[in-house]
Amino acid sequence: MDAVIALLPGDGVGPEVTHGASSVLNTVAAVFGHRVRCDEYLMGGCAIDHCGDPLPAETLQACLAADAVFLGAVGGPKWSDPAASVRPEQGLLRLRREMGVFANLRPVTINRRAVSSSPLRPELLEGVDICFVRELTGGIYFGAKTREADVATDLCTYTEAEVARVVRLACTLARQRRGLVTSVDKANVLETSRLWREVAARIARDEFADVRMEHALVDSAAMQLLTNPRGYDVVVTENMFGDILTDEASVLAGSIGLLPSASLAESGPGLYEPIHGSAPDLAGRGLANPCGAILSVAMLLRHSLGLEREALAVESAVSETLAHGVLTADLAGSREDTVSTAEFAVAVAAEISGGAQGRAIA
Ligand code: IPM
Ligand code: MG
Repeated sequence: MDAVIALLPGDGVGPEVTHGASSVLNTVAAVFGHRVRCDEYLMGGCAIDHCGDPLPAETLQACLAADAVFLGAVGGPKWSDPAASVRPEQGLLRLRREMGVFANLRPVTINRRAVSSSPLRPELLEGVDICFVRELTGGIYFGAKTREADVATDLCTYTEAEVARVVRLACTLARQRRGLVTSVDKANVLETSRLWREVAARIARDEFADVRMEHALVDSAAMQLLTNPRGYDVVVTENMFGDILTDEASVLAGSIGLLPSASLAESGPGLYEPIHGSAPDLAGRGLANPCGAILSVAMLLRHSLGLEREALAVESAVSETLAHGVLTADLAGSREDTVSTAEFAVAVAAEISGGAQGRAIA
């Protein structure tokens, strides 16, 4: 297959994890006989420095025309002045909106090698396998904002159609998993949440009789996520609750550096990014864990290119690499034999090539 990927390395550790991820993508393409071209574009703080716009027109056009978009991370202290009129994050939000990627899938699974990096007891983590579906193009992130001398407002709006499409996607996903969807809201307080709950319940009842839907309030879900994480299969929720709950859920996995994401539209290219931020304190030091970025490549292969076998090859190469004790600083603890961001990616690529050779011999 031929594919064009728009790469947006971004800021902080973004370029390091992006290069690790794209080298793995190139290896998969070579091993499985695909032609994948990766073109780099500016987005985020680096784009502000270059032309004053966090999402330059050239970048946006290239993203909309690509088969998929891969993003490292954006933001950093250099562009964080609250008085600044342009911020790197505005570029990301605009990109999500322009691409129409309304559903952000954030799977959380537990790798045995990372269990000791989680502050939670191992017996709580055994068998945890959650897929968050975060609504990504609506809610308070995109509502009108006002600021007067001493008053500020952020408007939160959801339409029935916005809730319905993301809930449908979550229910469809649950059918391929354990058949449970937990819809998370704050229906005891917020009107948008009461609409969310009504629509979610109706879609589940009318269209997904084979899926079990539970409703949970976000505060209680935040607690249950740590006390009974095995109680979740698919979790669907609105934009800001999803942002907060998925950072919390990364604590289950042992490091935020491990988690990938895929943001999907009705049609057209998907947007793939690790869930971690730009980690400016780690930038340029080879300390960042590229697993989340590399596993985002697996999601890209699966969801945008329809290459399931290749996606599984990347996922199993990451597990094997970790299982061999090849660990970046976030997971290595006090061990001295840590590998750098680039070395980890090289080890994953070698695992993929080696795995393919093994298959050829067999
Ligand atoms: C995320 C990030 C972004 C968000 C920021 C960088 C705007 O935290 O992808 O989770 O809040 O959506
Ligand atoms: Mg976040």
